[in-house]
Amino acid sequence: MSAPNKSYDPVEVSVLKPEAVEGAVSDALAAIAAAVSLEELKEARLAHAGDRSPLALANREIGALPPHAKADAGKRIGAARGAVNRALKERQEALEAERDARVLVEETVDVTLPWDRVQRGARHPLTTMADRMADVFVSMGFEVAEGPEIEAEWFNFDALNFPPDHPARAMQDTFFVESEDSGMVLRTHTSPVQIRALLSRELPVYVVAPGKTFRTDELDATHSPVFHQLEGLAVDEGLTMADLKGAIAAFVNGLFGDPLPVRLRPSFFPFTEPSAEVDMQCFVCHGESVGNPDRACRTCSSEGWIEIGGCGMVNPRVLRAAGVDPERYSGWAFGLGVERTLMFRHGVADMHDMVEGDVRFTLPFGMEI
Ligand code: DAH
Repeated sequence: MSAPNKSYDPVEVSVLKPEAVEGAVSDALAAIAAAVSLEELKEARLAHAGDRSPLALANREIGALPPHAKADAGKRIGAARGAVNRALKERQEALEAERDARVLVEETVDVTLPWDRVQRGARHPLTTMADRMADVFVSMGFEVAEGPEIEAEWFNFDALNFPPDHPARAMQDTFFVESEDSGMVLRTHTSPVQIRALLSRELPVYVVAPGKTFRTDELDATHSPVFHQLEGLAVDEGLTMADLKGAIAAFVNGLFGDPLPVRLRPSFFPFTEPSAEVDMQCFVCHGESVGNPDRACRTCSSEGWIEIGGCGMVNPRVLRAAGVDPERYSGWAFGLGVERTLMFRHGVADMHDMVEGDVRFTLPFGMEI
């Protein structure tokens, strides 16, 4: 910038000449109007309103003018820069609005279009159910135990106090592994895991064992040759049937979110004494369907109770077979059917749905991990 100079005439300073200023404005307006994108507008702003633009340079010359000329030049340059800035602002707004409208169109998702992505699988509801059932016991401090699906007859029957002539040992109930005298079977229940858990762990033992089990049943609406059970076993000092009933009541509360009553009915299993069948109150009708045809309940067949499994105090002979002193320790055990639980809890009417692997059955149960 030059120093003030009395003889300095604005009309003589080329960049301040009205034609030059008007020219700079019309160049700027043309460039602004020609900008079709925000990037181009940025360039136009730099060239016509930036520090090195003709109007900025002209503005800087004002300081060097004699006082009487400053006001006039200042007004003209100010008006010129104002016009350019207004045009920039308007164009900026217009281009932004255009961009926003375009983005809305380009990024629209047509939710009615058919999708062609590879579908993710879903966990089988039986797996989810077995995990959930086991989880309730894990939350009470139980550990998860495992055993083989191809099991020695000794674990599956003998150690569990099945006499040699017990009908469950007959070919029509049990899958035997060749050869006939191999002594191996496909386990008919998860109870052999009780023996394995006692032999491999320090006392006290609190375990649950979910797993596959096998029997020579034909597949029909309520049977399958391959099914699942959840075994439970607690062996400690001073355990009683009251602890067993309390644990099962806590399980029912955990799985149904409702402290439903539980009842035990006398029964028989070779590996427990005494033995019982466990029923829980129907979670749908809460017993109100009993003798009340107006309130018939499909879930419990209007019986008010649903059978969920077998249980009992571990037979001392079983404790002895697993090396546990029955004088010092007592135990209780239970076995729950996973298919059965899924059927009554979710209204699954036919076992075929659970084994056929059709995703139309599986997917509605969701992807719980
Ligand atoms: N193992 C029995 C079955 O397959 C179920 C069962 C009943 C398991 C009573 C137990 C129990 O642990 O105490 O039918």
